[in-house]
Amino acid sequence: MNDSIRFILNGEDITLGDVRPTETLLDYLRLKRRLTGTKEGCAEGDCGACTVLVGRLIDGKLHYESVNACIRFMGSLNATHVVTVEHVAAKDGTLHPVQQAMVDCHGSQCGFCTPGFIMSMYGLWLSNDKPSRADIEKALQGNLCRCTGYEPIVKAAEQVSH
Ligand code: FES
Ligand code: FES
Repeated sequence: MNDSIRFILNGEDITLGDVRPTETLLDYLRLKRRLTGTKEGCAEGDCGACTVLVGRLIDGKLHYESVNACIRFMGSLNATHVVTVEHVAAKDGTLHPVQQAMVDCHGSQCGFCTPGFIMSMYGLWLSNDKPSRADIEKALQGNLCRCTGYEPIVKAAEQVSH
């Protein structure tokens, strides 16, 4: 049986053999790749702290969806593009517009939820250049924040869409 998978992680072509069926993407990212921008909060798909994007080629075009890495098993990632928060800013450190908008709108306090929100906002930014307030609320509905309150975060998403 062939239990190897091949996928792109940020800009890197990865092939893994002997993938353990219960290994999650979150454990792989944090423990094996030290990509610790992706946070572990609830570890059961409720808080969104572990949000990453997973892209699939559909009709010749990459479509990205935001997913909870804590409940996504590695075996499901064959032929995908996994994007983590480390890949959002430019290589010279210049913040992506969604990151800058979070700064401008004071959308982060303790920061634990912030990478997850950034990934959900980035996924929306990639797929919809004129999102409505309802589109934004839908895109962020899987992300919880216990400090900032949601209005500054929604404002950041609105700022980046105009
Ligand atoms: Fe909470 Fe993944 S850690 S949804
Ligand atoms: Fe602290 Fe959101 S800024 S949980």
